[in-house]
Amino acid sequence: MANEGTTDGDAFWAVAAGERRDGANGDPFPEADLLDRFFRRIGEPASVASVGCGPASVCFDLAARYPTIEFRGYDAVGAVVDANRERAAECGLENLSFAVGAIPDLAIDGRFDLVYCYGALHYVHDVERALRALYERVAPRGCLVFNYPNRLTRGHLRRDLGERGTDAASSLEELRERFAPVLDGANVLSYRRIAEVLGARPRSYWSAVDAPVEPWTARDNPCVYVRK
Ligand SMILES: C[S@@+](CC[C@H](N)C(=O)[O-])C[C@H]1O[C@@H](n2cnc3c(N)ncnc32)[C@H](O)[C@@H]1O
Repeated sequence: MANEGTTDGDAFWAVAAGERRDGANGDPFPEADLLDRFFRRIGEPASVASVGCGPASVCFDLAARYPTIEFRGYDAVGAVVDANRERAAECGLENLSFAVGAIPDLAIDGRFDLVYCYGALHYVHDVERALRALYERVAPRGCLVFNYPNRLTRGHLRRDLGERGTDAASSLEELRERFAPVLDGANVLSYRRIAEVLGARPRSYWSAVDAPVEPWTARDNPCVYVRK
């Protein structure tokens, strides 16, 4: 199935980790600033792909800060891609483009110094195939950055959906279906498994960017980078 695991948006954040878009003090998740910090840590990339980019706030922000870096956003949902293209044209950002692309297959062209995949692997059953596809798109000496569900994410989600009880039975069913890969444990990863799948060692992205202690850096939202 080409678009396995495709969803229409922010369900993971709306459910199990919705509160994590904000920090403990209500500050928004500074996703672009952290990736900017990562650029300085590993050296400025010439090209960046964001897979499962959604509304692409990170791409829009960093494309404006770094006009010489080529940014390309991919999402499984065509309407998201169309809206992003329109916005990029309005903003006059010539170094930012968008295309439809879905993991686990990710039938896209080109390689990128940095491939970034935040908040999308949670929806994909065949997460190992997705990881290989993402890593394949990393240029030599480049880097793959991604967050992923681990066994703690699964526990969190199971508790969260369980606690919702009968308040919205139909949406509950929809959410269970959407997050079936995590609830079933199908796409639950660990550092060890990532190393086995990619043949390279994952390292903590949160540590690399010196991220603050916040709900979104908790142990049930691991984010790593893997060099090539
Ligand atoms: C929670 S949003 C994350 C958006 C963005 N990466 C961010 O950090 O704000 C998840 C996005 O992944 C996309 N998505 C879900 N399943 C996907 C798949 N199999 N392949 C590519 N994108 C997918 C959704 O359409 C959605 O836009």
